[in-house]
Amino acid sequence: MTDIGYEAWLGSGRNAGSIGSGLDAGGGLRLEQIAVTADLAGCGPLARAVEELAEGLEALLGRRPEVVAESRRSGSCVLIGTARTSAVIDDVLSGSSSGGSIVGPEGYCIRVRKRSASQQCCIVLAGMTEKGVLYGAFHLLRLLRTGHDLTALDVTENPAFALRMINHWDNMDGSIERGYAGRSIFFRDGEVLAGSKRITDYARLMASIGINGIAVNNVNVHELETQLITERYLPQVARIADVFRSYGITLYLSVNYASPIQLGGLGTADPLDESVRSWWRDKIADIYRYIPDFGGVVVKADSENRPGPFTYGRNHADGANMLAEALEPFGGLVLWRCFVYNCHQDWRDRSTDRAKAAYDHFKPLDGRFKDNVILQIKNGPMDFQVREPVSPLIGAMEQTNQMVEFQITQEYTGQQRDVCYLVPQWKEVLDFDTRCCGEGSTVRRIAAGEVHPYKHSGITAVSSVGDDANWTGHHLAAANLYGYGRLLWNPGLSAEEIALEWIGLTFGLKREDSDAAVTHRILLESWPAYEQYTAPLGVGWMVSPHYHYGVDVDGYEYSKWGTYHFADRDGIGVDRTQATGTGYTAQYQPEVGERYEHLDTCPDELLLFFHHVPYTHVLKSGATVIQHIYDTHFAGVEQVDKWIAEWKQLKADRVDADRYAHILERLQMQLENARQWRDVINTYFYRKSGIPDAHGRVIY
Ligand code: GCU
Repeated sequence: MTDIGYEAWLGSGRNAGSIGSGLDAGGGLRLEQIAVTADLAGCGPLARAVEELAEGLEALLGRRPEVVAESRRSGSCVLIGTARTSAVIDDVLSGSSSGGSIVGPEGYCIRVRKRSASQQCCIVLAGMTEKGVLYGAFHLLRLLRTGHDLTALDVTENPAFALRMINHWDNMDGSIERGYAGRSIFFRDGEVLAGSKRITDYARLMASIGINGIAVNNVNVHELETQLITERYLPQVARIADVFRSYGITLYLSVNYASPIQLGGLGTADPLDESVRSWWRDKIADIYRYIPDFGGVVVKADSENRPGPFTYGRNHADGANMLAEALEPFGGLVLWRCFVYNCHQDWRDRSTDRAKAAYDHFKPLDGRFKDNVILQIKNGPMDFQVREPVSPLIGAMEQTNQMVEFQITQEYTGQQRDVCYLVPQWKEVLDFDTRCCGEGSTVRRIAAGEVHPYKHSGITAVSSVGDDANWTGHHLAAANLYGYGRLLWNPGLSAEEIALEWIGLTFGLKREDSDAAVTHRILLESWPAYEQYTAPLGVGWMVSPHYHYGVDVDGYEYSKWGTYHFADRDGIGVDRTQATGTGYTAQYQPEVGERYEHLDTCPDELLLFFHHVPYTHVLKSGATVIQHIYDTHFAGVEQVDKWIAEWKQLKADRVDADRYAHILERLQMQLENARQWRDVINTYFYRKSGIPDAHGRVIY
């Protein structure tokens, strides 16, 4: 098996398209040394930063810079260090605050300084903390490798969100729930893969995009995984935490709410029962003995048949607070998931609306959670569909910490067989104005803790990584992983910019290369195309049950999961209005809810999420619903066809033969999938409605 793609966007200089201008080009930036302001005995983020720079510069310049103490610096160097270890570093850090931007605990400054005596130029990389230096080192290398002009370098960066997390849904047998890139990199055959080099390489990859917290096991905590918090496994888990720590990443575990019963032999997991509380206090103390900087626990409770406080007549605040109390003395967090709904619904009952569940369960509990609890809320009210409105719970709780949960793994968006670049979707969510505190209450500002005075907030996402050589299965799916991290650091970056950056770093292509342009176009057209050939106008689902790849219009229509489209011979869609439907629109702020409530203001792309309309209903685009369904399904397939033609025009050697062939093969699979969706959807709705395609195209 080839290991192409293993280095992902950190590929060595060999693939780098160009070297930062200013280097060795008469600007005096020869960077012969890396000068460090502290002693390098440690193996923490500062040491990692030095290592990265030494290797990165060697790959780019063809010679390894000498690593020296600041006192021995001479000539052109990169001077790196943390606050209060050197006058130059402090000067650079304070210079940035007088310039208006303050360097935060994870931030950094990068500046070019000329030493007057020698006229040699140095790059000063200053972080408040070692983590800041590490992030800065990765950024400096990114700038170098994408050809930025370094001569006037003046960068001050801080991450937009405090918690920048990844959730793995990995099981200890090595399987990954909703994983499409091989087996787990953390577990195999019931054992923890402590000591695996792959975990170190993964931590490095994640640190390079600013990730600072990783939960390593599935939120559905099965029997063996329940034991991860026991002495049997903690020593190995602690070894993963050691690796993470050296890259500035905190380890989290998903825990089974019923652990006191399953592990402790208690008769109950009632959160108000003193024996249960004391069991958790002891258990959490055990974990901290092994992992002194353990981040905390992720909990899926009372959802999809997982145990939770409901069994004991208690609510989610009772459950979360019990764990929070045990974690509090250690500074640990409870990441309590809000993906809670009735998964045993009767499809005949049209009054129950799964979309309403999270808000209904959690909103009344605002203010009742301890301040080391964070509610983890999926971006939409259903489940990571290709198009959903933003969850009305986001921003709706003023006194309860919140974080947003995205899905990088492409469960419902092509399973890493189809290309679907999700950064534009995430950006739409982050830019959405909830109006919860008036205009400008965007999801981005809520998750950054700027709208409500949250003590903790941020963003997390379900991982797309497995042990495939290229980490993500589809080579192009790595753009989502990269883009996720970059967006969390700076949501101001455009989806276009992030894609270009990723293409440059991954394939060594310059932005003006036509090959880069084709790859860029495919990425940016991919989410709209995926939406076009799958479920129309925000209605969602229509996927093969459980598996979630491929079309099955009625696969979930008469089932218990609460995911219906209600198509009949006259029309389609879910009436979620207050006037005649489930009343879901009332969960939004009035300005937002009103927009969705009325047909004339509801955006086309979410029409069928909010309304049941006849097939002849005319959209804002001017097309009828039925004609829109036909048109978009034909267009989606044409799009994929066009990518294949364009990809075939590429000079295969530019993106290397392996990746070229792999991507072509996946595009061809995608075309098959798109065709199947098109023909099934079009045929289904033609047969239901009896209305022919205005353009007379083939429908079966
Ligand atoms: C989806 C997914 C499940 C997962 C669940 C969750 O329903 O299909 O596999 O367990 O989300 O987020 O908990």
